[in-house]
Amino acid sequence: KTVRISDDALALACGADAVAAAFEAAGCTVERVSSWGMHWLEPLAEIDGQGFGPLEPQDVAAVLAGTSDKGIGPIAEHPFIASQQRFTFARAGKTRPLSLDDYAAHGGWAGLARARELGPEGTIAQVMESGLRGRGGAGFPAAIKWTTVAKAPATPKYIVCNADEGDSGTFADRMVMEGDPFMLIEGMAIAAHAVGAAKGYVYIRSEYPHAIAKMQAAALAARPHIAPFEVEVRVGAGAYVCGEETSLLNSLEGKRGEVRAKPPLPALEGLFGKPTVVNNVLTLAAVPWILAHGGAAYADVGFGRSKGTMPIQIAGNVKYGGLYEIGFGITLGELVEVVGGGTASGRPVRAVQVGGPLGAYHPPADFHLPFDYESFAAADGLIGHAGLTVFDDSVDMSAQARFAMQFCAAESCGKCTPCRLGSTRGVEVLDRIRARSGRAADAVEALPQIHNARKAARTLDDEIALLEDLCETMKFGSLCALGGFTPYPVLSALRHFPEDFGATTPATE
Ligand code: NAI
Ligand code: SF4
Repeated sequence: KTVRISDDALALACGADAVAAAFEAAGCTVERVSSWGMHWLEPLAEIDGQGFGPLEPQDVAAVLAGTSDKGIGPIAEHPFIASQQRFTFARAGKTRPLSLDDYAAHGGWAGLARARELGPEGTIAQVMESGLRGRGGAGFPAAIKWTTVAKAPATPKYIVCNADEGDSGTFADRMVMEGDPFMLIEGMAIAAHAVGAAKGYVYIRSEYPHAIAKMQAAALAARPHIAPFEVEVRVGAGAYVCGEETSLLNSLEGKRGEVRAKPPLPALEGLFGKPTVVNNVLTLAAVPWILAHGGAAYADVGFGRSKGTMPIQIAGNVKYGGLYEIGFGITLGELVEVVGGGTASGRPVRAVQVGGPLGAYHPPADFHLPFDYESFAAADGLIGHAGLTVFDDSVDMSAQARFAMQFCAAESCGKCTPCRLGSTRGVEVLDRIRARSGRAADAVEALPQIHNARKAARTLDDEIALLEDLCETMKFGSLCALGGFTPYPVLSALRHFPEDFGATTPATE
């Protein structure tokens, strides 16, 4: 029997190697494939299309004897998979990540071949027609960025793939790199063909050792397919801010990962001062499908100005967490309650943070929101890299707000004052709010501050007004999204959950 088991980092963390070894010991041939993205079922084994999971080594005998109660039926027909629109993740669960044969047999390289037929301008025209926007969070149209680089007179030009996936609750970039690395390389090669670049870099966070190894092997194996273009893998050193594009470029150049002021745009003066496409993994990974099937087919799916599909990452306190790719427009409530099945704890959902640690906390009252760039921006949030982190009613939202400020203080690059100092002051003011509102945990830390006579004279309302004022300064005075977006989780927590801050009336922004 041939048994397919993922070698994705999450499957490994859940014990996939031991399960694979147990099948081998029982005389099976084991193929290590990419993950289907149903995290609660890992380690998931597939035998003749039927799924079994989550497995432990001692389950193997029953699976092979046909008596296991861990069968889930045909994997491809599981509602979590069957209800998706998988463009980028079309091969997930189906191919061996580093097999060029599997890749080609499942549609690989068709996009690059089409791009070569169309030529650079025709390629950009397809991406323009697709409406593809930057999947890192800002949603800037990819084709406009590529056009700027293509038209820039300076040479050489570079393609930089931002794989510094640092947001809490996100894992789609990792799954692409570990599960379908040739797709990312093909996307980079298409971008290089479109703008006239000869060299590409994938900047991967050091916390992703499996992705680094897969991408290094894939870059080597793909050489004949992408020549004369070349891809090199570079490893970050663990700073969240290196996910900001200019900080990433500094890091790639061997400098400290400090944010650069824009302009100049990286599209004109990027890596080593040369025109550079900086795109997120998911942006580049969407491109082979777009070229192979046509920009119009991609644009047919989606909602409003958010075209195509988004690989949404469902995590936190949720029953069915995993990778869910679907056209923009599905509501937040469907994602959390129907797809995610509500909380794993079985308690009511209280808040969902959308867009990583800098994204807003949304209460169930926001569950009607369609998942797209504009709707979330209009609700004082962002979709960011499309990570959802679900919380039940035991969450303390003022503690979450404090965490946001503390995270910013820890990760600030230090270049600008509102972020560097504001975040530390933010932690302090939140400690005082929590102490005054009777949230005892931080009261001891806050006491020395409150003993200062001026601070002691302040009421809880004064402190909340101060916090709002500080957020305003950070939002409009910070150079990059780290300082500029930290107010989103803080203010959304304050606005939607004022009772956790001791306030009796909803706060204003
Ligand atoms: P930005 O809005 O400054 O730029 C977006 C991209 O478009 C950048 O790559 C920029 O270089 C490029 N660009 C802008 N104008 C251009 C032009 N005329 N020609 C060519 N390229 C051009 O956004 P930035 O600073 O890269 O990121 C901030 C954004 O990040 C926020 O809007 C936010 O939505 C998002 N964000 C994402 C998070 C995540 O989880 N990934 C977390 C927090 C924020
Ligand atoms: Fe650096 Fe923070 Fe300023 Fe961004 S906002 S440039 S991370 S100090």
